[in-house]
This record gives sequence, structure tokens and C-alpha cells, in this order.
Amino acid sequence: MNGSEPLSQLKLIPYAEFLKQGRLVAFPTETVYGLGASAWNPEAVAQIFAVKGRPNDNPLIVHVNSIDMVKEFAETIPPRARLLMQKFWPGPLTLIFKKKAGVLDAITAGLETVAIRMPDHPTALSLIELTGALVAPSANKSGRPSPTKASHVTEDFGSSIPVIDGGECQLGLESTVLDITVNPPLILRPGYISAAQIHHHCGFIPQEHNESKSENATEAPKSPGMKYSHYAPKARVYWLYDVDMGDSSDRRGFFSAGKNDLIITHTPKGAENIKAGRKRIHYHGDYARMARELYDWFRKADHDNHTGIGIEAFPKDIESISSGEPAGALINRISKAAGVR
Ligand code: TXA
Ligand code: MG
Repeated sequence: MNGSEPLSQLKLIPYAEFLKQGRLVAFPTETVYGLGASAWNPEAVAQIFAVKGRPNDNPLIVHVNSIDMVKEFAETIPPRARLLMQKFWPGPLTLIFKKKAGVLDAITAGLETVAIRMPDHPTALSLIELTGALVAPSANKSGRPSPTKASHVTEDFGSSIPVIDGGECQLGLESTVLDITVNPPLILRPGYISAAQIHHHCGFIPQEHNESKSENATEAPKSPGMKYSHYAPKARVYWLYDVDMGDSSDRRGFFSAGKNDLIITHTPKGAENIKAGRKRIHYHGDYARMARELYDWFRKADHDNHTGIGIEAFPKDIESISSGEPAGALINRISKAAGVR
């Protein structure tokens, strides 16, 4: 699925040996680069938390290359999961199963459930063929934007982590996380695979997770990762509106965009609204490209010392954006980077 040539299995052997020895290797997937470790090696899994600076209560996704491999981790495979795997795997959909006894506690952060996905990337699939299942969070330091290029991984970890270079990730946003242990299934993290697509292909409507509700202090968050600040560059990310938004730090009118800010727009109106002299990127409604490039712009903005990144707010009626578009996931990631609650 990725544009660049997949690495031959032969070239992957040294990386696979590293992983089998309990070391970490970053590898490309169709969403973002993953920081891989053998799913059966407790020291390697512990290393992931250490090098990322990741809180121990944030569980990891197990990456597999077959449904047989799912059976090593999931207690049962409900019919609904079979249908979802058949329709969307390999692809950007992570499923939450009841975990099987023996799955490392560090992977699940002590939960009774385990997250599993089959990435749609030939290099990732070949690597897993050689190593067995790999746990892999996004290969960034905790709180930084996810890496969509090999150079982003090196930027965060230096040369201490070997990176298998697969070029730019095709999708650029992390997978949809769907909890199928509850009824109706619940989307814990929006991604490329939307509720509408799941409904269309599988005939049931998943619930969409209301983060602000579950993140209040009295209720344990369903997806631990979503409570942490994420995806944020150093530059201040904020939404841009047609109208004056007062002195809110995460929402501004176009006319209050900072002089030294990077401005990202996607509608004709947004393109018109940009004041001269600003560094600007316009996506002409191409949300797939915007998703692919968003995290790269976050990092570039920091290199170029932009103080802020203003991103045009999405039209209210995002239903008008076709269902294959990752608008919902974009809104989620940008809102998190902007610190909008
Ligand atoms: O696209 C992706 O999913 C990428 C690539 C590398 O596969 N991986 C990724 O991993 O984004 P990470 O660790 O950055 O995010 C995993 C998310 C977190 O929000 C975590 O809390 C959630 O999945 N998660 C993992 N296990 C879970 C579980 N058992 N129950 C609920 N949420 C879980
Ligand atoms: Mg991550």
C-alpha cells in the first residue's frame, strides 16, 4: 500500500534478529511509524515505555499478520470481530478483545482487554512474519507528534533506535481504535475507518466515544491513552474561524492569526481569508493529503520557529465531506494538539 518499494525479506533479517534479541526497531506502517518490540519479551516491552517516556497505564497495540496470530492474544474471536477483520484488515482499524491469559501485563497495562491490529504495509507484514507478533506504539517520544517519516523517528530518538525506512506513511494518522467487548462497540479513537464505514460494511452502528464525559475525574477513561496530551508541536496550535473569537487561546478569528504563524486552510473561503505575508498551506479540500502531511507540518513549524499554527476550522456540516475522508480523525488530532477540551 505504501508508495515506496517494500524491503525484501532478506534485508529485514538483521532487523528481525535485533527484535528477537529483545531490542527495539522502528518500522513503517500505513498509518504512522511504530516502535516495535517482541510481544513475548517482557524486557523489550518495558524498554518501550522507558525510551518513549510513556506512562505505564497506557497500553500497547499488538501487531499481527494473520488471524491465527490474533488467537495467541485474544480469549475469543466474536463473530463481529471476524466480520470487521474480513472487511478492514489489513488496515487502520485496531480492535479491542478480551485478553487471553499469559499476555504480558505491561502490554495491556493491567486491563482485561488487549488491542490488536494488522497493518496494511508489506514491510510491516514481512517483518512480523520473521519475528512473530510485535507491540508497537507510535515511534515518537510521549506527547510529540506521531512520526510519518523515518527522519521523524530519528529526530526523537537519535541513532539509538534502528529505523526501517519505508518512506512517507500513506495515511499519516493513527488507526481507529474500536472496542468490541462492549455492545454496541465503541470507537475509542477516531481514525481513517469511520463509524459510517463500519455501519456500511458490517451493519451495526458503533458508538462514538465522548471523551469529555469519560475524562471527568470520577470515571476511569476507557482508552487510557486518550487522557494524555498528544500530537503537540512546540508551536501553539489553534483553530481559525471566519469571525472574531475573542481572546481564546485555542480559537481565533483569521484576522488575529499571528504574523509569524503557519496557516493551514482547506476551503475556498479559508484560502481567501489568509492575510498576506503569512506562511500558508492550502489543501483544496484534499483531506487525505492534509491527514498525510499534518504531523510533518507540526514538526516543520518547530524547525522554522513558527510561534503558532492556525488551522481553518471545519465546516459544521462535516457530513458533507465524503465518508472515505478522515475529517473526523483530523478534527480529533488537531483539537488535541490545540488543547481544546
Ligand atoms: O496506527 C496506529 O495505531 C499506530 C501504528 C504504529 O500501528 N500505533 C499507535 O499506538 O498509535 P499508540 O500506542 O500510540 O496508541 C495506542 C492507543 C492508545 O490510545 C491506547 O490507550 C489504546 O490504543 N489502547 C491500547 N490498548 C488498549 C486497550 N486494551 N483498551 C483500550 N485502549 C487501548
Ligand atoms: Mg502514540
